[in-house]
Amino acid sequence: MTSVNISGYGDGLTVDGICIGELTPSDHESIEKEKGGQNYSPLENVVVSKVKDSSTLIARRPHPDDVKKFIETELIDGLCCYSAVNQGQLNQTIVDAVVKHLNEEKLPTVPRSIRHKYMSAFLLAATGITGMDKVVPKVAGVESWELSFKISRRWGFYKKGIPEEEIIIVGAKGNFHGRSVAAISMSDDEESRAGFGPFLPGIELVPYNDVNSLENLFKDKGDRIASFMVEPIQGEAGVIVPNDDYFTKVAYLCKKYNILLAMDEVQTGFGRTGMNFAHQLFGVKPDLMGCGKAAGGGILPVSFVAGRKDVIDVLTPGSEGSTFGGYPLASVVGTYAIKVMVDEQLAENARNNGAYLLEILNGIKKDFPDKIKEVRGKGLLTAFEMHSEKHLDGHKVSVQLLNHGVYAKETHHTTVRLAPALTINKNQIDRLSEAIRSVIKGL
Ligand SMILES: Cc1ncc(COP(=O)(O)O)c(C=O)c1O
Repeated sequence: MTSVNISGYGDGLTVDGICIGELTPSDHESIEKEKGGQNYSPLENVVVSKVKDSSTLIARRPHPDDVKKFIETELIDGLCCYSAVNQGQLNQTIVDAVVKHLNEEKLPTVPRSIRHKYMSAFLLAATGITGMDKVVPKVAGVESWELSFKISRRWGFYKKGIPEEEIIIVGAKGNFHGRSVAAISMSDDEESRAGFGPFLPGIELVPYNDVNSLENLFKDKGDRIASFMVEPIQGEAGVIVPNDDYFTKVAYLCKKYNILLAMDEVQTGFGRTGMNFAHQLFGVKPDLMGCGKAAGGGILPVSFVAGRKDVIDVLTPGSEGSTFGGYPLASVVGTYAIKVMVDEQLAENARNNGAYLLEILNGIKKDFPDKIKEVRGKGLLTAFEMHSEKHLDGHKVSVQLLNHGVYAKETHHTTVRLAPALTINKNQIDRLSEAIRSVIKGL
């Protein structure tokens, strides 16, 4: 029988004689390469060991003089786990709630087949903040999208009367909704699809931010289309912000053709774009909305689908479920993640500090027009895109930013996204932007 010996905590955590606190960045890399799936290519020579404050990571980097040692440096977190930590790392209100919940309230886990009292709190908070009739809790972001997809199909069949095998769900080109088979069936990114087919049928894509293409498709096949599933701002595609009137036109067309508007707010929700939810920027209200990431306050994976009563009500007992979706601890974390968004005015912070960051980035673009092509963003979901030239490489920028004490990561080859915690202060934004300026100058 195989066994494993695990002891200690923190840097003393030891697994089969290997003490975590003694490993260098290259040791970690070797273990990951040998023992882990190679589905990520993380930045090299850097391993995060803890956080210092809501926007500062402590990271281990190779010792300049001794390969067997490491040094610790501070990094301003310019990404906050792709918007999963909008409330800032270790947000005190959420941490206090979790500790109190586990130590004093004492209800970590029960299944959905028996009620627990914290579900009510979460449902009240989540319907309250979204202004939606009903909410269904899930765990990962992709699960909220996948459930919106399932609900769309069922609504198309039950309510719109489309024959089951003919139902079409429309998506936008350049989308990112996660990594499940349904999500990559909608994706047009070859890297995430290659070798994973056959894909789900009944999906059609239109160009993002193109009302005419959508209208033509609706005219042609509207009687068979159940929903248009779309990100209000495309995050992974490089922070693509649509025209101001795009979504009012989309919402009008959806209503006209009796098609659900299902928005994926996994990355754009929870104050990120300067509003609690990005659809509010455009003055529309989706019929279904998926949220994730910051819904768990950077502490637990929490996601949910929110929507209109008649739409969510197509779900019946046995048609959907999740062991950890809305379990007591997640319900508590989800409730407090919403409380922090409201009490700490995260959307307002994102609006103010986002405007400040965009102004600085535009200044850098003005100074280096031969290097930076475009600066984009809403609130604190921002990005700069460089011209397509060999020396203007996003990965190189990410690596060099590390040397300037900043963690940010390219999306595609020429775009670098900046999405720090919504609790970030102006001083930290200054340090972040100074690093960007130096790196861009040196390219
Ligand atoms: C818009 C959008 N939807 C869905 C997801 C998937 O979320 P998760 O990785 O938690 O499954 C992401 C992740 O980046 C996202 O940006």
